[in-house]
Amino acid sequence: MSKKLLLKDAHIEGIRYFDVYRKQGGYNAVEKALKMTPEEILEEVKTSGLRGRGGAGFPTGMKWSFLAKPEGVPRHLVVNADESEPGTFKDRYLMEYIPHLLIEGMIISSFCLGSNASYIYIRGEYSWIPDILEQAIEEAKQAGFLGKNILGTGFDLEIYVQRGAGAYICGEETALLESLEGRRGNPRLKPPFPAVKGLWERPTVVNNVESIAAVVPIINITGAEYAKIGVGRSTGTKLISACGNINKPGVYEIDMTITVEEFIYSDEYCGGIPNGKRLKACIPGGSSVPIVPANLLLRTINGEPRYMNYESLADGGFATGTMMGSGGFIVLDEDQSIVEHTMTLARFYAHESCGQCTPCREGTPWMYKILKKIHSGQGTMEDIDLLWDIQRKIEGNTICPLGDAAAWPVAAAIRHFRDEFEWYVKNPELSQKQNYGLANY
Ligand code: NAI
Ligand code: SF4
Repeated sequence: MSKKLLLKDAHIEGIRYFDVYRKQGGYNAVEKALKMTPEEILEEVKTSGLRGRGGAGFPTGMKWSFLAKPEGVPRHLVVNADESEPGTFKDRYLMEYIPHLLIEGMIISSFCLGSNASYIYIRGEYSWIPDILEQAIEEAKQAGFLGKNILGTGFDLEIYVQRGAGAYICGEETALLESLEGRRGNPRLKPPFPAVKGLWERPTVVNNVESIAAVVPIINITGAEYAKIGVGRSTGTKLISACGNINKPGVYEIDMTITVEEFIYSDEYCGGIPNGKRLKACIPGGSSVPIVPANLLLRTINGEPRYMNYESLADGGFATGTMMGSGGFIVLDEDQSIVEHTMTLARFYAHESCGQCTPCREGTPWMYKILKKIHSGQGTMEDIDLLWDIQRKIEGNTICPLGDAAAWPVAAAIRHFRDEFEWYVKNPELSQKQNYGLANY
């Protein structure tokens, strides 16, 4: 049974509301934290080993310690709730069912970082959630946990909710800041990092929803206790949104010691694959991370079980492993076509490219065009090589990671499933009638 820190009260009726949340011990962490110094809170977060839950896994305490503190310049905390990575919906769950956990985490984090105005930037498609967050903010304010002189400590904090307008790129932290400032969401060059020059050129910490929510249990149980959960540098718990060909899609909280096999097949989590079908592949961390075939997903190249944590999933690098990413776990059964799947993702990235850099602007629609050609049975062997070549030229040559995110799925698909691409070339008539999965498994 996995330990639960974030979702432990998610099943309680009315937990969305302040009174019920408070009765379960909600806001105790704020009371405790406001008696500590910002330095002591930072130390707890560092000790916890918490890593950014948005996808990059950057150590949260280290990011906070990079925050510049020039005299007389305001600092900000911005929560990235622009959860748009295909297959990822864990932040939505958290905000919809336990909004006070995020607000409580934001109060503690803002106090630690010295932010008196903090922001939640939420994707436009989550249209019903801003009202839930705004109600939670109002309730917290009425109870004295937000606004002026919180709990008589002299600390002031306002939290603002800003809706995005449906662009995936606004989840990239600097594009998000541009959008928050009222401009088109074009990513900025880094460095400078937001910690030095962020919102309105002020020092800013941008953190994912789940990362900030995790600060609450860290303060409640201490960073040292949090660090004891999990394994190695994968401390604490992680929310995983599971979808695709599984019996029980949903959001699960895991403690990162379980194996991938257990996660897919046990009734506590995904409950196996419907209709007794075989596992073909999986994207374990949202669409931007490389797809992994079943044999490498369940075992490492050394034959060891693969675990649901940062290190084990990345074991072997991109050639064999993948990444924990955002925790968007997409399972594909034997009937699925990798070419079709890759084509769908390529269309997504081509549509979402902001167009600033040539390799991404020109390369992403080009990859989609070639994949469409191959999928429709009109491709050639040279097209497969060209596709490989294009993704190589995009990777590492763009301003923001969207370019890499578009290149990696194509690279991994060709690397692991080249025979499938070739089947589409060799069987033009068949490929138009049935997909590779249905024809070959
Ligand atoms: P990154 O590795 O560039 O940065 C991670 C964080 O650390 C950033 O906040 C950055 O400002 C900070 N940082 C790194 N070095 C720093 C330094 N020297 N000084 C100060 N701060 C520093 O990764 P990025 O671009 O933030 O995220 C990419 C990841 O996002 C991908 O791996 C992907 O999995 C994930 N992603 C998640 C989505 C979602 O919906 N959750 C959507 C799209 C991508
Ligand atoms: Fe825009 Fe793509 Fe360049 Fe990112 S990589 S800045 S999305 S063109």
